[in-house]
Amino acid sequence: MVVSLNRDGPVAVVLIDNPPVNAASHAVRAGIVAALNEANTDPAIGVIVLACAGRTFVAGADIKEFGKPPVAPILPDVCAALEASIRPVVAAMHGTTLGGGLELALACHARIAARDAQMGLPEVKLGLIPGAGGTQRLPRLAGMETAIEMVSGGGRIDAQAAVACGLIDRIAEGDLLEAARDFARTLIGSPPRRTGEQPVPTFDAVAVDARIAAIDKKARGQIAPGRAARLARRAAEVPLAEGLAEERAAFVELLAGPQSAALRYVFAAERDAARIVGLEGVAPREVTSVGIVGAGLMGAGIAAAVLNAGWPLTVVEHDAAAAEAGGTRIHDLIDKARTSGRISDDAVAARLSRLAVSTDRAALTDCDLVIEAVFDDQDVKTALFADLSRIVRPDAILATNTSYLDPDRLAEAVAHPERFVGLHFFSPAHIMRLVEVVETATTSPGTLATAMAVVKRLGKLGVVTGVCEGFIGNRLYTAYRREADVMLEEGALPHEVDAAMEAFGFPMGPYAVNDMAGLDISWARRKRAAATRDPAEPYVVIADRLCQAGRLGRKAGAGYYRYVEGRREVDPAVAAIVEAASAEKEITRRPVAADEIQRRILTALRTEGEALLGEGVARRASDIDLVLINGYGFPAWRGGPMFVAGRT
Ligand code: 3HC
Repeated sequence: MVVSLNRDGPVAVVLIDNPPVNAASHAVRAGIVAALNEANTDPAIGVIVLACAGRTFVAGADIKEFGKPPVAPILPDVCAALEASIRPVVAAMHGTTLGGGLELALACHARIAARDAQMGLPEVKLGLIPGAGGTQRLPRLAGMETAIEMVSGGGRIDAQAAVACGLIDRIAEGDLLEAARDFARTLIGSPPRRTGEQPVPTFDAVAVDARIAAIDKKARGQIAPGRAARLARRAAEVPLAEGLAEERAAFVELLAGPQSAALRYVFAAERDAARIVGLEGVAPREVTSVGIVGAGLMGAGIAAAVLNAGWPLTVVEHDAAAAEAGGTRIHDLIDKARTSGRISDDAVAARLSRLAVSTDRAALTDCDLVIEAVFDDQDVKTALFADLSRIVRPDAILATNTSYLDPDRLAEAVAHPERFVGLHFFSPAHIMRLVEVVETATTSPGTLATAMAVVKRLGKLGVVTGVCEGFIGNRLYTAYRREADVMLEEGALPHEVDAAMEAFGFPMGPYAVNDMAGLDISWARRKRAAATRDPAEPYVVIADRLCQAGRLGRKAGAGYYRYVEGRREVDPAVAAIVEAASAEKEITRRPVAADEIQRRILTALRTEGEALLGEGVARRASDIDLVLINGYGFPAWRGGPMFVAGRT
């Protein structure tokens, strides 16, 4: 039985059991309505508890039913039935109460949650808005400001925050179901407190309107966040029924639209990325302690991510000064989460208590996994891996964070190279979600499975890539830049390319990104490659000319832009360099429109994606889209170049 009714004296427990995440499928919806009817017509019942078996309370509407004709009772009707129940209904929440699951809970008359429960309305991440009353009921319980953040951001809050804002009534001490039954008994005989009948608490309308404008701006073309926020705002202006009707209409419209189709594809793509052909039945090895060599910017970011995930960590630097600087860097990254209110003082202390910083590689002896994050140089890394091979156990996993070196060559320095793998983090590593997991020629299935499991525990998205220069991501990005540079020669200016790509939905255009990262690193790489470059291959000199003019990016006060008091400004000197490059090749410059820029970059990305698939570097087209979305800011609501091309 997907939904059962269990009696405990006057308390009826309606239990949903629909693994894996208790999604509100048709059977669940119908089951809730039937159980409610039964409980409400049984004179022996005085109160009802709505709870779930398994790992979580309802984690949302059943995504697999989207796109099919809705079958009654639809979720809004189930919520209406809960709210109208004659007997009080208490929602007992554990795990992740998300989307339609939270909407069910909001329609109940009281809410209790396990201490470690989390709740949220992530519909915007699927290009949707809450479609079963979330935008109308949440402001009534949690207040307008919290509701707007939750419906538009799609993030989760924990039980403590939920009590503080009024979303739930209490946190269960001990067993949730027992606590829920105790709570429910106190409500027998009292009239149900219907959320929809509560007024929206007063709020600062001017501040809320300003916030909604900011949400629209930040969404960069995605419709759902602003729609969700405005609907929540409507809860304070119109009666419940009217608000619910507007919400439903918006939900249905968005569900049929292209943005939701793209984001639902991304949701499925993320789960597919973890399903790796050849790894069926291969269990990841247990990793109980982690080591990192190198605590520069990248190493410190990885260290913060490892500590956040709860592992004990040993970090090794080459001398005392570097160790001290590295330790401070890690400390500062973790403390920043505290000062921005994301974690408590205790959480900072717990993380730092698991950190040991050493100048002696022998401190890594017992680690199950060691990640190197030292200077990207073949000789340095080769020597390091030879050394690590002597220090760690023969089955400890060794990982390189190299961006551009050939991991197959590095593997030659590793004893037992089947335990060698690439973990290519993106900077800042404690924030960026993407990790390319590089399968070398020698990586064993067990090592690959373990690497993917580690990345998942870090809270990140792992995408498997084969070996090639730049792996999936930097290969794609190089193709992106190549096409953009060609358009500069043809007639576009850097700020026009950036504006076109920002209008497309990227947070920053390629030249603004380059200015931020610094132009010197890729300049050095180009100089190293100059001797072996194919002279027949077209070469755009603009970046070199900027570097030669000392325009090394934001840190130098000038790059593709000039920076005045930190503000990015278009610089006529850049136009002069670009125009000179066109003149040198006798190219007659012409205006390049934004839509042409967008189209050509999309085509370049798709062509490179096809090449990566052809070479076997990428395992599936959707992995390519995930890399661009999570590592390079491609707008998720467009799905990715492979999705746009219908190649999924
Ligand atoms: N419907 C159907 N299947 C779902 C689902 C859902 N809402 N949520 C998760 N699943 C499936 C996954 O596809 C996966 O299936 P698979 O094993 O075949 O790949 C399985 O459940 C387990 O999911 P995860 O691998 O993601 O497991 P995790 O433990 O890592 O995460 C989770 C669990 C936090 C619940 C995560 O799955 C999640 O975020 N799910 C989506 C939640 C969501 O978006 N809810 C809102 C839906 S829209 C909605 O409710 C509309 C309403 O307003 C009307």
